[in-house]
Amino acid sequence: MPDERRRAERRIKARRTSDRRATTGARLDVILDVTRRLMSITDLDALLRDMAEATTRLLDADRATIFIVDRDRNEIWSRVALGTGSGEIRQPVGVGIAGSVAASGETINIPDAYADPRFNPEPDKKSGYHTQSLLTFPMTGQNGRVIGVFQVVNKKGSDHFSSDDEDTLASLGASAAVAVENAQLVAEQRRLWETLIETLAVTIDARDQQTAGHSQRVTRYAEVIGRGMGLAGIELEKLRAAGLLHDYGKIAVRDQYLQKPGKLDDNEFAYMKAHAEKTGEFLAHIEFPHDMREVPVIAAQHHERMDGKGYPRGLPAERILLGARIVAAADVFDALTAPRYYKPAYTLEKTLELMDAMAGDHLDPAVVAAVHTSRKDLEWTLESMKHTWPKPQDERVTAETGLSERDQAATKAGGA
Ligand SMILES: [Fe+2]
Ligand SMILES: [Fe+2]
Repeated sequence: MPDERRRAERRIKARRTSDRRATTGARLDVILDVTRRLMSITDLDALLRDMAEATTRLLDADRATIFIVDRDRNEIWSRVALGTGSGEIRQPVGVGIAGSVAASGETINIPDAYADPRFNPEPDKKSGYHTQSLLTFPMTGQNGRVIGVFQVVNKKGSDHFSSDDEDTLASLGASAAVAVENAQLVAEQRRLWETLIETLAVTIDARDQQTAGHSQRVTRYAEVIGRGMGLAGIELEKLRAAGLLHDYGKIAVRDQYLQKPGKLDDNEFAYMKAHAEKTGEFLAHIEFPHDMREVPVIAAQHHERMDGKGYPRGLPAERILLGARIVAAADVFDALTAPRYYKPAYTLEKTLELMDAMAGDHLDPAVVAAVHTSRKDLEWTLESMKHTWPKPQDERVTAETGLSERDQAATKAGGA
C-alpha cells in the first residue's frame, strides 16, 4: 500500500537522521573533550599519542600515524605510529602520500592506496600489513605553514573514509595544530633555558683548569643521589639547575685566589668563601618559574653545614634545604674523586670513607646514606664523567714559583 510504504519510508528516514545527529553529537563531544585535554598537555609526545588514539577511535580507523615536519631537513617523520610495530619513518617533503600532503597542504582521501602512484608499498612488504583506504590530512600552524600530517589507515566497516570523516579530522586537526605549536614552543624554551644554564656552568668551570667540568659532574652526582632519595620530576629539575649554577658566584672571585695552587691563607679563604653568597645574589636576578624559585637558595646554601659552622650564613641544619644538602654531598664527592692541584683522584672506597667521617657535622647523614645506596650508579656516572676531569698537562704549574702561568700573569699585573 502506497500510504503505508510512505509512512514506513518516513520512519526509516527519520531514524537515519536521528542516528546521524546522535553520531555527529557524539563525535562533537569527543572532539571537544580531546581539544580540552590537548590544551592542557605540554609534553609533545603525550599530546600526539593522545591525538592519534582519539583520531583512530573517532574515525573507526585501524591505524593512525602522526608525522611532524622537520623544517631544518625538509623532511617529515613519524613521531607517533599507532598499530604498527615499525620504527620511525622519515621521508622528504613531497615524497609519498604524507609527504605530498606536507608539501601541498591538501587533504588526500583515497579508497585504494595501491592505485595511487605516490603510495610507497615498502613498509607493507616488510610488515605483511595491507593498506587499503587512506585519509591524510595536514596540520596547519598559525603562519599558514604545514607543521604536521595526520594519517589514518583502513576504515573499519567501509571501503573508504567519508566526507564526514574529513570534517572530523579537520576539526581535530585545527585544535591539534595550536596544541602542537604550544608544545613545540614550550620545548624550545625549555631547551633554551637548559642550554643557557649549561653555558653559565661551562663559563665558570672554564675559569680554572682545576675545576674543569666540576659543575657538570656535581649536577650528575646530585641527580643520582636525589633519585636515590626518591626525588623525581620538578624536584630533580631544581636539583639539576642548582647543581649547574652552585658555583656561579666564582665569577666574582679573582683569578689569583680561584687558581692558587697552594693552601689559601685566612684572608684569601674569606674572600673565596664569598662565592656562595655571590651565587645567591646573582641568581636572584633570574626570574625563575614559580616551581623553581628555590634554585638560588639551594645553590647559595651548598657550603652550609649540619653543625651550623658552614658559610655564608652558618645556618642551623633545619634551615638548610634538602636540595642544598644533596648538592653539598655531590660537591664533596667530586672534590674527592677528581684530581686537584693538591691531591690525586681518590678511589671510591677512600671517598666513601671520608664522606662517612663527614656525616653528621658537615654532611646530612641521610644524604650520605643515599650515596651508599646509589653507589653502583655513582660509580658508573663517575666513569662516564672522567673525560671531563682536568688534564695533568693543563695544570702548567712551574717548579720554581709553584704558581700557574695565569697566576703569575695576574700577580705581575697586580691582580686580574
Ligand atoms: Fe662552592
Ligand atoms: Fe663546587
